[in-house]
Amino acid sequence: MSSTARVYSRIVGVGSALPERLVTNAMLVAELGERGIETSDDWILARTGISQRYIASPEVTSSVLGARAARAALDYCGMAPDAIDLIIVATSTPDYVFPSTACLVQRDLGISGCPAFDVQAVCSGFVYALTVADALIANGSAKNALVIGAEVFSRILDWSDRGTCVLFGDGAGAVVLSASDRPGILASKLHADGRHEGLLRTAGNVSHGAIVGTPFLTMDGQAVFKLAVSMLDQVGRETVQAAGLTVADIDWLVPHQANIRILQATGRKLGVPAERVVVTVDQHANTSAASVPLALDTAVRDGRIREGHRVMLQGVGGGFTWGSVFVQF
Ligand code: ACO
Repeated sequence: MSSTARVYSRIVGVGSALPERLVTNAMLVAELGERGIETSDDWILARTGISQRYIASPEVTSSVLGARAARAALDYCGMAPDAIDLIIVATSTPDYVFPSTACLVQRDLGISGCPAFDVQAVCSGFVYALTVADALIANGSAKNALVIGAEVFSRILDWSDRGTCVLFGDGAGAVVLSASDRPGILASKLHADGRHEGLLRTAGNVSHGAIVGTPFLTMDGQAVFKLAVSMLDQVGRETVQAAGLTVADIDWLVPHQANIRILQATGRKLGVPAERVVVTVDQHANTSAASVPLALDTAVRDGRIREGHRVMLQGVGGGFTWGSVFVQF
């Protein structure tokens, strides 16, 4: 009787891209102040941990940032674009209603033929996309996948709403996920609960040539805060258990970068020491689906995450959606 070896997927390349325009809290406070909107560096820093964000200029879209991050990830592992046989982009700020941002990234990379599609799970988008790519590699449909989180959230912010406009930034992150005979992705768990859809949303659409609903992000910040912490704790535990491991086996926690207080509270609840929690929300603000791969790229390139480390990637966001991927480097 012959047995077929299980196919795993490993993250072999990481990359990211940020728009050129860096906007510090001081710059944002001054810009908002000119329009009569009162906020302060102290308030933003104390409540969110955010010091700065990057804002895309009008011609820079999610596909532009996504393709730049993809190229950086390909360069990292020395892979040519034509070795890629699957592209998944997680985004809630696509270039168009259609075609997908993934198809535009594929075109920008100069390749064709492989499947390319978007995943929409808001701030959980990257862990959703990574889980889908892992499954497609495990069933033999793909060998080298580009999994990208790319966002231009600045386009859906109401810049007169100080409760939300200070929280977000633009950017993209990407990984190359390749088939391997050793793990790799150890386990992943995804969840959603549409009953909470009203807590965090951009409830608009285009119809008959006009915007229907509201094109701006709205949020119940305190409700989101409470749900996010308990969901990340619960799904983190569920995922280590599915891998046959324990929380003590987490070398690095890379949660969605929404707010420093959510990151700290999640680390505390899960029992991961603060120095093992990767934090980039101070530098990038909340970049939704891009935040996890941006943080991952930062911690791999600065040498914190190394070969053999086990890393818990976590997303939570609108939908509500939440999930974790536990991955060995
Ligand atoms: N500058 C100054 N004051 C502000 C600002 C601002 N930018 N925004 C709100 N305020 C004021 C409010 O008007 C309010 O004033 P009032 O007491 O006179 O009415 C006061 O600050 C307190 O407002 P709250 O909303 O209660 O402030 P809170 O402490 O809850 O902090 C925050 C708000 C930072 C949004 C918090 O609720 C939070 O972190 N929520 C998590 C949500 C989050 O991170 N969302 C990101 C997207 S979701 C995701 O990615 C999962």
